[in-house]
Amino acid sequence: MAKIEPVKGVPSHVGIIMDGNGRWAKARGLPRLMGHRAGTKNLRRVIRAAADAGVKYITFYAFSTENWKRPAEEVNGLMDLLAEFIDDEVRDLHKENARLLHIGHLDGLTPLLKKKVEDAIELTKNNTRITVIIAFNYGGRDEIVTAVRRLIEAGIRPDEVSEERISNALFTAGIPDPDLIIRTSGEKRTSNFLIWQAAYAEWSFPEIYWPDFDEKALLTEFENYASRERRFGKISEQL
Ligand code: IPE
Ligand code: IPE
Ligand code: MG
Repeated sequence: MAKIEPVKGVPSHVGIIMDGNGRWAKARGLPRLMGHRAGTKNLRRVIRAAADAGVKYITFYAFSTENWKRPAEEVNGLMDLLAEFIDDEVRDLHKENARLLHIGHLDGLTPLLKKKVEDAIELTKNNTRITVIIAFNYGGRDEIVTAVRRLIEAGIRPDEVSEERISNALFTAGIPDPDLIIRTSGEKRTSNFLIWQAAYAEWSFPEIYWPDFDEKALLTEFENYASRERRFGKISEQL
């Protein structure tokens, strides 16, 4: 596919809730894990298309704190796919000047997988073209609980608690809030994704399963986003 040109009015930070892998597989008579594999493969083209379009941060919701409740076989398969993604893609992402970050808790992952993620973050830490954030063992409520603990541990007094201090205690400290959040598969809920940071995000719910969400679908989302008016509480005339 031809290289995508930078898009005017492109969101700086895009969040993606990669939903519909299971239904994608079911529709083809395949086991759910094949859907997850196809979904993981899809990361590559979406990251590249986003970087070409001029996106600076892209966050992928890959495993929620609630996803531990799935059958052990599926949970283990999802862990293996994170390892595969790192093994197969990080070298190329590094060459393409992409930085990898993680949000969520790495505790709970096997020591080997935790080390893989940490090594990928270390390898790519000085890259500047795009920041790819993997939300894995991530939950927005868990993130806020963690932030409150951090503030208490730091001895912050009640009158010192502010939105800025809370933001800086989240896993996403230093990362701008998402401008656009896309949830594939037609489900319309947050499922605990970036619940603090998404206060003023634009949302979109394309009726397409994640493994089928391609460059064209992404650019369509950017076109729709560019036509929206973000008022942040003001009225049109003030913008
Ligand atoms: C999203 O696909 C991937 C994860 C939650 C890990 P699903 O597995 O939720 O797919 P559906 O919703 O069952 O189709
Ligand atoms: C949200 O999808 C989590 C990820 C995409 C990683 P789910 O499919 O787990 O969400 P619910 O449980 O249907 O809300
Ligand atoms: Mg789902």
